[in-house]
Amino acid sequence: MTVSFSTFERLKTKGVASYKNGDFLAAKTYLVDAAECLIELAEAAKSPEARRQHEELAAELIDLAKDSDAQHKSGGKGRRPVTARQGEKEGDSGADASDWIVKEKPDIGFDDIAGLEDVKEEIRLKMIYPFMHPELAQRYGIGTGGGVLLYGPPGTGKTMIARAIAHEIDATFFVVSPAQMLSKWVGEAEQNVRKLFEAAKAEPTAVIFLDEIEALVPKRKSDSSSVMQRVVPQILQELEGFDRKAGRALLFIGATNRPWMLDEAMLRPGRLDAKIYVDLPDAPARYRLLEIYFDGRPLAVDVDYGALCDRLVGYSGADIKNIAAQAAQKPFMEAVAGGEPRMIEMKDVLAVIEETAPSVNPADLVRFETFDGQGKPASQSK
Ligand SMILES: Nc1ncnc2c1ncn2[C@@H]1O[C@H](COP(=O)(O)OP(=O)(O)OP(=O)(O)O)[C@@H](O)[C@H]1O
Ligand SMILES: [Mg+2]
Repeated sequence: MTVSFSTFERLKTKGVASYKNGDFLAAKTYLVDAAECLIELAEAAKSPEARRQHEELAAELIDLAKDSDAQHKSGGKGRRPVTARQGEKEGDSGADASDWIVKEKPDIGFDDIAGLEDVKEEIRLKMIYPFMHPELAQRYGIGTGGGVLLYGPPGTGKTMIARAIAHEIDATFFVVSPAQMLSKWVGEAEQNVRKLFEAAKAEPTAVIFLDEIEALVPKRKSDSSSVMQRVVPQILQELEGFDRKAGRALLFIGATNRPWMLDEAMLRPGRLDAKIYVDLPDAPARYRLLEIYFDGRPLAVDVDYGALCDRLVGYSGADIKNIAAQAAQKPFMEAVAGGEPRMIEMKDVLAVIEETAPSVNPADLVRFETFDGQGKPASQSK
């Protein structure tokens, strides 16, 4: 089996982000997976030098994973960021919500996201303007808050957009990992859902973000576990009970790269009724991604973003970020080995592209484009 560098990159990014957020259990899992990926990549590496580099980095990741495990077991004392403890009383039975809810104030905005102009505009209209102009929204009967589903292939910026929305409306961002939440859910499911919504409602403005939401609210089957059968209706009820009055609002964002696995009841009006398709980057977005991710790196004059854009049709934002990082590695390694430091040249970038397949395959893309969630079709991808 071959793993791609972008898979590793994404696992590592998620692991490090979880670690920074104090989500140590998730961090450990991601970091171990990232290290395993890297070990596989090391085995496949062409040069001994690259192999050694990969192995060293894998060892570092394992150390960080061990630290995450220790932090998790000790309750993360010392390094932990603000976590949600609202609504919890002494003796309140059940899990400590701070184990699985992370609260943050994201600092990335829409300007940091390449392309996706339609998506940004739709979000501005449905979510940002009503928050920013509450009196006007009230006057015209425009609701604030509600549910949004971001769906699309992996690495297209869904998680990034969710963070940016919270930033744009200066909301507290609650990140919930379904995997973690579920593991805590044996017998405590309803209570956990209630705690999550209570913690969010205690903030003037809050965004609850559920990544990989299909893991939490999959299609209800008659034979599915009883936990799911109780929890799904409860989430739906909490969603409907949102305080939609202007001024105090709660936004619920779910993201998935497998929308067809979601329970249809989640997609009805009043629930995750705004469904937004986050597509692969179009040509201007690919251009912008190159600008963002080559920014600050020494580039030779022959590097032609226009030509690279044409070559990068089908690649995701995460792929392009990763290609930029890898293209810098060769000249860097040469300089480390004692060579004269040189610029990153067009051939370095092309060589990386040659070796890297897009992480999203065309067959999967068709599934998104034909997904009947009344989301917009892939008008932007060309
Ligand atoms: N449109 C974009 N603009 C800038 N950076 C992007 C964009 N799309 C992806 N990226 C980069 O790729 C990384 C992965 O993106 P992100 O985690 O938001 O993808 P995702 O759609 O949530 O993927 P998944 O479905 O796997 O969760 C981001 O950290 C970001 O650096
Ligand atoms: Mg994501």
